[in-house]
Amino acid sequence: MEPINLYDFESRAKSTVPHNVWDYISRGSQDGIALKRNRSMLESILLRPRFLRDVRKRNLSTTILGEPIKFPIMIAPASSQTLVHPDGEIATARAAATAGTIMSLSTSSTKSIETVAAAASGPLWFQLFHCGKDQTEDLVKRAEDSGYKAICLTVDTPIPSDKEVDIRNNWQLPPEAYRGNFSHNTLTDIPSQFDSGISEGHGRPPTIPLTFEQLPWLKSLTRLPLVIKGIRTAEDAALCVEYDVDGIVVSNHGGRQIDCTLSSIETLPEVVAAVNGKAEIYFDSGVRRGSDVLKALALGAKGVLIGRPIFWGLAVNGQAGVEKVLDILYRELDLVLAYCGFTSVDQIDDAILHLPVEMEYSRIPYVEEIRGLADLHSKGLISRKEFDSKRESLLGIEKQ
Ligand SMILES: Cc1cc2nc3c(=O)[nH]c(=O)nc-3n(C[C@H](O)[C@H](O)[C@H](O)COP(=O)(O)O)c2cc1C
Repeated sequence: MEPINLYDFESRAKSTVPHNVWDYISRGSQDGIALKRNRSMLESILLRPRFLRDVRKRNLSTTILGEPIKFPIMIAPASSQTLVHPDGEIATARAAATAGTIMSLSTSSTKSIETVAAAASGPLWFQLFHCGKDQTEDLVKRAEDSGYKAICLTVDTPIPSDKEVDIRNNWQLPPEAYRGNFSHNTLTDIPSQFDSGISEGHGRPPTIPLTFEQLPWLKSLTRLPLVIKGIRTAEDAALCVEYDVDGIVVSNHGGRQIDCTLSSIETLPEVVAAVNGKAEIYFDSGVRRGSDVLKALALGAKGVLIGRPIFWGLAVNGQAGVEKVLDILYRELDLVLAYCGFTSVDQIDDAILHLPVEMEYSRIPYVEEIRGLADLHSKGLISRKEFDSKRESLLGIEKQ
């Protein structure tokens, strides 16, 4: 029988992919606490559906940084897609175009910026891992020249995070799977593969740091909008606003990097509050159902991204598999939209949600106050130090 939901794709993909590769794609870091929490917290948010409304005509379309897309579900940057299908990122880009949405291409992709741009007829983002001044300049320029619509800088991997499962499997990503953008370089010229789980201690070259203070330099390289991926706190979100970024992806990297964090959905409200409409906010980590998309939108995201389900679609049936994954999510979102009494995604608000006690904090007054403080800070009316100390006293954090 054809897969009818994303979990069907997951189990079918698992049976076709070698177990080392499966572990690399599916597992989280260390104890997998963040990975599990991404799902359990999304599942613990319940809906308060509304009826007796005319919902026969529905519109799922939206815009992302001004770019119209057919529904608010995008493809997250993910490295090495040829691990599960020979067409890799080309198949994914074509599927995204058919579905009418945006695909992000990873710095660590198998296929290059130019190859994917030539194959894709839909909008693309380029996901950047900072690779040092010269390499980064080159990558950003290539992405802009190839027609990509945004630069999405991933910040939550300052150093690679050990994935114990890969070490135990004695498995490393084959270099050709993540060097599509560096085919002209030797292996030692390029930074470590940031999502490989094999860290510097295992013989990889060192990673190259990037700090908030360097964001103006990065922005000066391109006319494209800058999106920051991996923000987990109101504080960093407020700083992103201060540095004038265009978008933020609230993401815990699908639980693949630092463990023991809040789930991504728990983080979303404080980031939304701190940003206060000054940048678009997107969400990823754990999206498997149309209802997950609705929940994220209700909490303030403009769109969501999916990571692992792309590998499942690719593994099962290449481009057609990814198209089907996107189609399933489209239909599920359409259904839950109607059941919640909405006819367009712009109407979704948080009154539709019943939050678990762990998340009720997002509705208590201090979030509003932090939002106000972030506003004052971004207008230069209070210093970073004042922002931090007021926020800490609101949260009851004692300075040692
Ligand atoms: C195999 C794999 C490779 C990934 N590679 C990257 C990457 O190169 N750059 C990046 O920013 N995120 C990367 N991610 C993280 C995704 O962009 C996304 O944040 C995450 O997969 C979302 O969670 P989900 O898999 O539960 O949907 C990767 C994820 C997976 C599963």
